[in-house]
Amino acid sequence: MNNAELNELKKRYVAAGAATSATQFAERAENAEVWDADGNRFIDFAGGIGVLNLGHRHPKVVAAIREQLDKVMHTCATVMPYAPYVQLCKRLCEVTPIRGDAKAMLVNSGAEALENAVKVARAATGRSGVICFDGGFHGRTMLTLAMTGKVLPYKNDFGPMPGDVFRAPFPNPYYGISDEDALHGLMKVFKTDIAPHRVAAIVVEPVQGEGGFYAASKEYLEALRALCDEHGILLIADEVQSGFARTGKLFAIEHSGVQPDIVTMAKSLADGMPLSAVVGRAEVMDASGGNSLGGTYTGNPVSCAAALAVLDAIEEENILDKSKAVGEAVFARFGEWERQFECVTHARHLGAMAAFDLVTDRASNTPDPELTQALCAKARENGLILLSCGFYGNAIRILVPVTVEESVLKEGLDIIETSLAGLVESRAYATG
Ligand SMILES: Cc1ncc(COP(=O)(O)O)c(C=O)c1O
Repeated sequence: MNNAELNELKKRYVAAGAATSATQFAERAENAEVWDADGNRFIDFAGGIGVLNLGHRHPKVVAAIREQLDKVMHTCATVMPYAPYVQLCKRLCEVTPIRGDAKAMLVNSGAEALENAVKVARAATGRSGVICFDGGFHGRTMLTLAMTGKVLPYKNDFGPMPGDVFRAPFPNPYYGISDEDALHGLMKVFKTDIAPHRVAAIVVEPVQGEGGFYAASKEYLEALRALCDEHGILLIADEVQSGFARTGKLFAIEHSGVQPDIVTMAKSLADGMPLSAVVGRAEVMDASGGNSLGGTYTGNPVSCAAALAVLDAIEEENILDKSKAVGEAVFARFGEWERQFECVTHARHLGAMAAFDLVTDRASNTPDPELTQALCAKARENGLILLSCGFYGNAIRILVPVTVEESVLKEGLDIIETSLAGLVESRAYATG
């Protein structure tokens, strides 16, 4: 079937809320390239929204999946466990920067990891409160929607939200929120919303994903750690988007040296297979009763086999160094655009987690979400899958596989440049 025929099916049978405006249907993919149902080629700077740090169909992952398919595909881990589940938990406990001995549990999606991290934190502390951050994104289940700090498009139609979830400002010096302002805002939450002794966990993305690729500073994360220790609050690092080599380290929090009590991870953990994990201090993870965590599909053996291959490939192929190199190449190009275009600003990166903002002009620093949307659309027309993000919807984020070939990376960056130059020249986006 071609794109037009598939679009007809989508229009007729897929719920509006689950169908985006994208009209090309992926038919096959390899590393950082995708071909659609009409045979058009795209360079993939979205990586399935941060899932493909190792690229589409990494050969080692595909081989591990094939091998596991010939053994067992499902038993339900609680009915009859299997080797890849426990082997993966061991590997994750060894590599996650948790204080002291760690234990792990596996689920299916990022949101499920966050749900379970909060459940575990509540069981371990006997408290119910959760504090998250403005602009943070933690998923689309009801609790994680409550934790998510952005109304549109996620929360608008679905209230009321579960209670005992509060939000503090996230430090973002580009838009006037210093570390000090952010800490002051958190203190205000303790005064106006919930006393610290009722808070089970503070949940922070070390680098906000959907929120705009803004990294919390080492000092801010250290201050959060100290506050949590002072009040017996568990610190949860949500590494769903920033984990698995995106930032040049396995986890972004490692750049700060801060050790959280719990880390949530998903996305690039299994290179496209659905899998997520909660890894935390052993005594915290053991706090809830027998069979209180899990689910029918959690920690599927094929997904676990894929994740074990991901961890091997990260070690064997110097993926952390590649992530740094890709980040530097992309950031250098951003610098050229900052000189070339008045609307490009705040270029930033931690490893290959790189973004820049689009503003109407540097003097006013006014976010320009229309131009941002127009750039993503124009890039798609020109053969590049590109994503925006951001509290103000004006950040262009790069989530290209870190295994991308140099020539393909350059080609993708060239498409951004020519697309942006065309838009700025015509200003067509301003009039729609
Ligand atoms: C930081 C973060 N947490 C949680 C999630 C939710 O993950 P999922 O969409 O797999 O439920 C996301 C997804 O983008 C994310 O970026």
